[in-house]
Amino acid sequence: MSQEAIYLPSPEFVSQANVKGMEGYRALYQQALDDPEKFWGNLAETELHWFQKFDKVLDWSEAPFAKWFVGGKTNVCYNCVDRHLNTDRKNKAAIIFEGEPGDQRVITYQELHRLVSRFANVLKGRGLQAGDRSIIYMPMIPEAAIAMLACARIGVIHSVVFGGFSAEALKTRIQDLNAQVVITADGGWRRAKEVRLKDAVDEAVKDCPSVANVIVYKRTGSAVPMDPHRDHWWHDLDEGVSEDCPAVPLDSEHPLYVLYTSGTTGKPKGILHTTAGYLLQAAMTVKWVFDMKEQDTYWCSADIGWVTGHSYIVYGPLAVGATNIMYEGAPDTPAFDRWWRIIDKYKVSIFYTSPTAIRALIRQGDHWPKAHNLASLRLLGSVGEPINPAAWEWYHSVIGKNRCPIVDTWWQTETGAIMIAPMPGAVPLKPGSGTLPMPGVVPEIVDLKGNPVPDGNEGYMILHKPWPSMLRTLWGDPDRYKEAYWSKLEGIYFTGDAARRDKDGYYWILGRVDDVMNVSGHRLSTMEVESALVRHPHVAEAAVVGKPHEITGQAVCCFVTLKKGVDQKHDELGKELRQWVAHEIGAFARPEEIRFTDVLPKTRSGKIMRRLLREIVTSNTVGGDVTTLEDMSVLTRLASQNDED
Ligand code: WT7
Repeated sequence: MSQEAIYLPSPEFVSQANVKGMEGYRALYQQALDDPEKFWGNLAETELHWFQKFDKVLDWSEAPFAKWFVGGKTNVCYNCVDRHLNTDRKNKAAIIFEGEPGDQRVITYQELHRLVSRFANVLKGRGLQAGDRSIIYMPMIPEAAIAMLACARIGVIHSVVFGGFSAEALKTRIQDLNAQVVITADGGWRRAKEVRLKDAVDEAVKDCPSVANVIVYKRTGSAVPMDPHRDHWWHDLDEGVSEDCPAVPLDSEHPLYVLYTSGTTGKPKGILHTTAGYLLQAAMTVKWVFDMKEQDTYWCSADIGWVTGHSYIVYGPLAVGATNIMYEGAPDTPAFDRWWRIIDKYKVSIFYTSPTAIRALIRQGDHWPKAHNLASLRLLGSVGEPINPAAWEWYHSVIGKNRCPIVDTWWQTETGAIMIAPMPGAVPLKPGSGTLPMPGVVPEIVDLKGNPVPDGNEGYMILHKPWPSMLRTLWGDPDRYKEAYWSKLEGIYFTGDAARRDKDGYYWILGRVDDVMNVSGHRLSTMEVESALVRHPHVAEAAVVGKPHEITGQAVCCFVTLKKGVDQKHDELGKELRQWVAHEIGAFARPEEIRFTDVLPKTRSGKIMRRLLREIVTSNTVGGDVTTLEDMSVLTRLASQNDED
């Protein structure tokens, strides 16, 4: 499969597309480039509901702290729910839910309005008001979206913590945010087992004095202990509560949510997104990239705990009045055709998933998708990591029957919305490339001095202009915000990704250039895993690197030195340490491999040479078997001669 294969959109797709042909794309891109404030200002006026119009589109005078749509008042929840009620969408399905055990619910926009308003009143009843913080730690059920929207309705800043995170990870996020309330469930269903969320909350909040209320949705019905002073059942608080709860007019820059993501230190970064700019760009990219139409049935398989779930399950699709599928469980339960079954059953037309999931399903064989009618599909999407051409081809032919364009979407928790992706009725596809930037996005590939590298060469990807859905800061840490994103090259947004641009201007993302791994499309910092490992009583030092993995893209590989006198079988201890990391961070962070060593290769100044370790796990050729003392120390000596920085 040559990288130069090109797929043109079919004439039928183009004729119905929201953006038609390269001329259509180029015109939009040029308008945004020529006058970004006019471009975004016009869209904000036509696409969003305003309680009070803004008087300035962008204030970049305190860069890199942007303010968009200054002086305006709006409400994200109003835009996602209320404004559809005076239209034909009133009784349209907003969310079609399928639980892992097979239970189903259809929630119309009108019903969503009722449920969200009631829960917003529940939150008010607990004393919460605009500016307060909530943690949402939920399974993939409609109440997760309802809780987010209810917070947005009254200006409570939410932070969703992925249900796969451990109690320990949950605790540090609650503490960093000083959250007043935790919204959770007894548990959720995954692989026919209960994920006991409330147990993790109980463990986490022991050390979180800020949490006055824990609200528990009953999903599984299993027994959970309830603290009579702190814990409340959702259904108890909901009883008799008023359905009337007007959306609060909020400043354009009112914080909407904080989402924690891994940085290059052990401490996760609280990415802050605000109101109007975030919603506008999430909504516009749904129209441009997913080509969303009134009659589409759209399914994004991400979990609501990641940014993809925020922008492309909840806020973007609901803002444009789309119908969303939401599925609670695992793709292999009860069998490997669960996803294809869902697509067939609900006649999904747009499906958005990750390369990891695609590769895992390829492995199970084509007979699973082939047993189902996938003819309703018209567009496919990919996100989270580069998609390898072989996986792309399979997705295109076996799932899309060579009929559906694939939109490979590059973006980050920080960018809030899709930055590089094809408009499917306009831009010819090249498997493995995110193709061209969205309107208002100005990427460039540069060297470490900030000089553009020639097309075809690898370099660091940067973004030149502020954009409406950009992160505004890191929660409680503006200095780290400046340092992490705006100081590698003074005043320019540093993505942390390596990429190249080809002769047609297409972008090819190569992966992270910092100490961040990408495991199953989830960002994980090497330092976070290292800090978890050294908290174990037997571990003296640890160095962690990502190792190429056929399914998950990268897998976690740990080099560990033990404390003096620790005398334990390596097999057993290895197992214990893998479990330890899963307990400290979450099951998705469980290392694939633990290698014990007596020394770690370091520079003379004591920095662990991860580059060398990466080479070892990638090629396994550096010095042959490098797991022994001699090999390591030789490596250290050799490498420290030319790796000092
Ligand atoms: C990092 C961001 C954006 C939602 C999911 C991940 C990598 C993401 C792609 C893609 C190549 C991609 C990048 C990026 N990435 N999408 N289509 N092609 N790489 O969000 O956890 O914030 O991670 O994921 O390395 O920097 P995230």
